[in-house]
Amino acid sequence: MKLLLKTVCLASAMALSFSQSDDSHYNASPDRCAGIEFDAIAPDEKGTSYFFKGDHLWVGFSGPAELSNGTFKDLDEYHHLGHVDAAFRMHNKKDSGDHDHIYLFLNDKVFSYYKHSLEKGFPLEIQQQFPGVPSHLDAAVECPAGECVTDAVLFFKGKDVYHFDIATKMVKKKAWDHLPNCTSAFRWLEHYYCFHGHHFTRFHPVTGEVGENYPKDARHYFMRVSNPCSAVHLDAITADDTGKRYAFRGEMCEFNCDYKITVWHIDVTDGVDAVFSYDSKIYLIKGNQVYIYKADAHYTLIDGYPKPLKDELGVQGPVDAAFMCEGEPTVFLIQGQKMFSVDLNATPRSVKREVSLPFTKVDAAECGADGVRVFVGSKYYKYESPTILTRSLVSILKIILVLQTEHFLNTYFYSLGQK
Ligand SMILES: *[C@@H]1O[C@H](CO)[C@@H](O)[C@H](O)[C@H]1NC(C)=O
Ligand SMILES: *[C@@H]1O[C@H](CO)[C@@H](O)[C@H](O)[C@H]1NC(C)=O
Repeated sequence: MKLLLKTVCLASAMALSFSQSDDSHYNASPDRCAGIEFDAIAPDEKGTSYFFKGDHLWVGFSGPAELSNGTFKDLDEYHHLGHVDAAFRMHNKKDSGDHDHIYLFLNDKVFSYYKHSLEKGFPLEIQQQFPGVPSHLDAAVECPAGECVTDAVLFFKGKDVYHFDIATKMVKKKAWDHLPNCTSAFRWLEHYYCFHGHHFTRFHPVTGEVGENYPKDARHYFMRVSNPCSAVHLDAITADDTGKRYAFRGEMCEFNCDYKITVWHIDVTDGVDAVFSYDSKIYLIKGNQVYIYKADAHYTLIDGYPKPLKDELGVQGPVDAAFMCEGEPTVFLIQGQKMFSVDLNATPRSVKREVSLPFTKVDAAECGADGVRVFVGSKYYKYESPTILTRSLVSILKIILVLQTEHFLNTYFYSLGQK
């Protein structure tokens, strides 16, 4: 919701009503790492996520808080506004004049913004735009057809959830007593999260069913890259055949974090060592074991796994990193200063070649169309095209760039926003 708002004439009566209910003015810039309960979270039409707290907001997953009025200029008309109750991004492909608009809810009013401008005619009473939906909401989140039965919005107030069908404007009220009261709700990578305190809980948007192992601390997932929260490094990274990336760090992965915990049926609380993908499968290496998953929607563990790494690839674990380059059946395994190559087409599989690396300890590595990235602590090293790496000794590899791991995460993960 990066919204540069046109100045719109707003009734002074409204300004008054906001000033009366203002109970959360934040003069000091809040620190996300301190454990914040967000008022609202929503992405804008470009996929940039906005986190609202009091009269501040954060743009994306890292960086400092900004005053909301810098981005939402019209909101400043309400001098004592102080907060946003709820926000979501409309999913309504049948109406291009509505699709991807950001809706902000303040007390009994709703504001619709598109490309940083307040839409004509807004703000409106919430009931004018969303009949049957109450004022003073706690949270809201969009739910496109396919995830909900039809394009819908879920509104939260206390224990009550209002399921609003966008086409028919029908409202169904449900009581999801098992879910914590959500102060904000967020759809991220087709999953639904209820934020409460500085924790969050995944829920199913139709049944309300809560995912296993929740709640979790939002600071470890949605704002981790911001430096005060932690030093940035990676444990393992790969991309599957569809280009979907998985990056692992500590007890979570930075992206599809949630997948990892609930889907990789292994104990990942102290991290994974290495991961690579091959032939629509994801190979996850931890200690002496390798786990192979189908890279489908369910990440099914293939029968017979985990197996000892030695049996599968001919290398004694543990390893530090692993990667493959597209179009070559060779996996590279990095262990300390050594890198082994193993031909996956050979039986039995064994080390074909061993080379020395100029690093004592590599955290993670990946190979893409633009070259190889080797992650070492808070930095990563980018090498020339993968074919050079696969055909020659590493010592002649040319480092193109040395960059911050954080920069990589920001570029390849956080900026993706919502798909
Ligand atoms: C935003 O609000 C602050 C504090 O109320 C004020 O000092 C500042 O001028 C405002 N900024 C804009 C862009 O309106
Ligand atoms: C949750 O919301 C209900 C109202 O639906 C309220 O009675 C209850 O106190 C709230 N719980 C917390 C922990 O705020």
